[in-house]
Amino acid sequence: MKEKIKELREKINAFSASNEEAIESFRIKILGRKGELKALYEEFKSVPKELKREIGQELNVLNKSVVEKIQRLKTNVESSNQGDAKTDKTRPGGIHTIGSRHPISLVRNEIVDIFRRIGFAVSEGPEVEDDWHNFSALNFPPEHPARDMQDTFFIEGDVSLRTHTSSVQVRVMESSTPPIRTISPGRVFRNEAISARSHCIFHQIEGLYIDKDVSFADLKQTLLYFAKEFFGDETKIRLRPSYFPFTEPSAEMDVYWGLKTETDYKITKGTGWLEILGCGMVDPNVLKNNNIDPDVYSGFAFGMGIERIAMLKYQIGDIRRLFENDIEFLKQFKSGI
Ligand code: PHE
Repeated sequence: MKEKIKELREKINAFSASNEEAIESFRIKILGRKGELKALYEEFKSVPKELKREIGQELNVLNKSVVEKIQRLKTNVESSNQGDAKTDKTRPGGIHTIGSRHPISLVRNEIVDIFRRIGFAVSEGPEVEDDWHNFSALNFPPEHPARDMQDTFFIEGDVSLRTHTSSVQVRVMESSTPPIRTISPGRVFRNEAISARSHCIFHQIEGLYIDKDVSFADLKQTLLYFAKEFFGDETKIRLRPSYFPFTEPSAEMDVYWGLKTETDYKITKGTGWLEILGCGMVDPNVLKNNNIDPDVYSGFAFGMGIERIAMLKYQIGDIRRLFENDIEFLKQFKSGI
């Protein structure tokens, strides 16, 4: 009996066919009512009790493998038939759906274009940074709360995920000499609770301008130009005094968007004003740290979150929508370039 099972198994393994008729006649020959496997099952009835378990199992395994093999051969034949049909040049073509850019990319590209037009170059840097580029070179005192575990994702020792793209500006300062005009777009990380208004991963664009005689008026005009280009000619901005370790004086800029829709109300906390960036005159210590003489050069810097601006522009009430990659949501941005 065992010998017969083995023979049949070998026969099944050796079989191959590439047309439906051959597969079907093979199926009948093995699995049919008068088939070879059926015959073995008949014979099984007279197998001594003590061997029943072992031989029964072998038969079942064989049965299963032949059913699977036939199925596999059939699928192969079907798909190769389809292959033939594909080469039929008269068939109508399939529909290819075209993807769309992510709203974050759309806004990033638009902002980059606006600053490119006034002579800013784009610079990029690593997402994993050391303490010097993310904090120390930017005049963060050793005990500054931003270095705290609550804000920063530490990796090992003083290596962390960058908390802003100001780190890229340090890299630009150390590898070039003024005049410097650069913007640094990129992904940043902060250990913050995720809510409708904030996320632990987001995107920034930071700008740096260093030359002789750069003043706060230059900063203001540059930002006003940006706001008008991006939000429209009528856009109003306001600068509020603020504090950053790397700029002095420092400010935050709000744009007035109004309260036309419910989303406006939600994202501006009912004021109509939305803070979109931080800015200021580069602190002389930062220039010194990067071997730039603060008696000769001065500069301004600014940094903005892309998500906030995208939310305002596209009326997105919840920042988390930007990270879910929900196709239905992303499809809405098809017309963007
Ligand atoms: N780096 C600051 C932040 O991440 C933004 C900023 C950049 C502020 C440049 C002032 C000047 O919040």
